[in-house]
Amino acid sequence: MSQKPKPLADRNFDKMVTKFANRIYGTFKGQLRLELLQEDLGALRDGAPMDVWDAGCGFGQMALWFGEQGHRITGCDISEKMLAEAQDRFAKAEIEATLIQAPAQEVAATLPPQDLVLFHAVIEWLAKPIETLEIVADRVRPSGHLSLLFFNHHGLIYRNALRGSWRLKYLLEEAWYGKGKNLTPPHPQKPEELIAWLQKHGFEIIAHTGIRVFHDYMEDEARNGSDMEELRLLERKYCREETFRDMGRYVHLLAKKRDEGAPRSAPSCSIRTFHPTIMGVSEPFAM
Ligand SMILES: C[S@@+](CC[C@H](N)C(=O)[O-])C[C@H]1O[C@@H](n2cnc3c(N)ncnc32)[C@H](O)[C@@H]1O
Repeated sequence: MSQKPKPLADRNFDKMVTKFANRIYGTFKGQLRLELLQEDLGALRDGAPMDVWDAGCGFGQMALWFGEQGHRITGCDISEKMLAEAQDRFAKAEIEATLIQAPAQEVAATLPPQDLVLFHAVIEWLAKPIETLEIVADRVRPSGHLSLLFFNHHGLIYRNALRGSWRLKYLLEEAWYGKGKNLTPPHPQKPEELIAWLQKHGFEIIAHTGIRVFHDYMEDEARNGSDMEELRLLERKYCREETFRDMGRYVHLLAKKRDEGAPRSAPSCSIRTFHPTIMGVSEPFAM
């Protein structure tokens, strides 16, 4: 079965600005994504001022959140329109940032090692995902952090299998690319493969969170008949549990680069970790 050829260039979002804004930000989905990311990254944000590079920053929402706390921000994107929106948001907030319209691969060569690199929802759109990840991850300083958010291969398979019909044969042949909507990226990633890659390249996984482990699998009817606050609590209850977290439509990994010069027994930084047992519904929620 033939599959639409995967693009030979990284995807520029110039033509997808409106669609992206509507689908990703203005919705329950977008809010949940933001809430869980901010929870994983909150301890770093609350710490000492850092050099933060948002590689493929889009509208710069996460970069701005760090900028508001006094961190030094560099953002880059190949899309002029996405970057213009980011620039506008920083200007309105009166926060300084260096915003560069260029590929992350090129910007990496100009940057000193960074305390934190954000690489959110970009890898799945790249022509060469792993080669580019290597270039981007190389800019994390020893003991610094990489925050990697990606569209999950397992979520794509599961969601389409549940929808059934003509999709099943494309899933069987792994020929699904180009059969869905425009916002389906060419290179969804498998969490276990990225975790193995990160560990092999000197990173330790500090947070591992599934973004939307239920919401996207529900039929419209089931969703419409549900209390969204209950759904939000259910997502929060399971998003960091094994099995469920690897079923998220997106997966977030926060990884700390080992300092090879430091003794192996050195204490690791005080990032909050999340245990399912303390994620009960009665826990107070930081919104
Ligand atoms: C799905 S958006 C994510 C934006 C933002 N990181 C977020 O999480 O909201 C992907 C972005 O990556 C940008 N992009 C794709 N390839 C890139 C590259 N090689 N270097 C920099 N930006 C890139 C696109 O233009 C787009 O704005």
